[in-house]
Amino acid sequence: MDIKQLQHAISRTPVREIRVFETIGSTNDVALDWADNRAPDFSLVIANEQTKGRGRFDRQWVTKPGSSLAFSLILKPSTDEVGRLHLFAPLCGLAVHDAFHSLFDLDAEIKWPNDILINRKKCSGILVEAAWSGNVINRIVLGIGINVSLASLPPPELQLFTAMCLENALNKPVDRFQVLTAVLQSIHKWRSLIGTDEFFAEWQRNLAFKGERVMIVDSEKQSIIGIEKGIDELGRLVLILENKDEIAFEVGDVHLRPADFSLTGGTHA
Ligand code: BTN
Repeated sequence: MDIKQLQHAISRTPVREIRVFETIGSTNDVALDWADNRAPDFSLVIANEQTKGRGRFDRQWVTKPGSSLAFSLILKPSTDEVGRLHLFAPLCGLAVHDAFHSLFDLDAEIKWPNDILINRKKCSGILVEAAWSGNVINRIVLGIGINVSLASLPPPELQLFTAMCLENALNKPVDRFQVLTAVLQSIHKWRSLIGTDEFFAEWQRNLAFKGERVMIVDSEKQSIIGIEKGIDELGRLVLILENKDEIAFEVGDVHLRPADFSLTGGTHA
């Protein structure tokens, strides 16, 4: 990793401290450890390669050297923020969406709760983890992976939802540090707006599959099909069922897919 370029990118953000790794297991694991050991708010862990990158639902997240962005941001939440913990993953979704839009004029979509899709293919994944001291949540780690070059794409058997990368979408080389700067600046902006009407409106506006038939698969592997209505004031995804009943799903142990999704070639959510 080019440290000079990285330092330049970081100097334009509110990042307070940084730990950089050429190769590491998972930046989220390092960040959780460091957060436990007095990392200041808005500290960053970044790696060129991850050997044990983690996704949601304990899935593997592949980060090949130099091909992607893989980083984890440590936040020390205020009491208000602790009450809005469930909104930090969508916050990252909004930040990645905005970065793609401001840098490349790309209209990415946010697949509830927080995957970023370009042309309906997954370009970025987000894993938010929190840690407690006693009963109090006092650390949040925002783990973000962004596929930049073709080499970042996971093998087909790990692609549950078809994957995409920025360079493929744009058909030109992308400076990943420029993307990093924009995402970090945008996280800072949305943090101050978390839970506001503006936050929900922007999330809603960029939501993938709105008005379309989707399928939710719950933890018991039950599938529920309905029309995606949108997000409610608690950040739950609302589906309209065939009998016109509405049902709201919390971020948690559910997977969202378009209803005509075929399971051949993987099982991404
Ligand atoms: C998902 O789509 O399931 C979430 C993927 C999150 C990947 C990022 S890469 C940086 C950070 N470190 C990890 O081990 N995971 C997150």
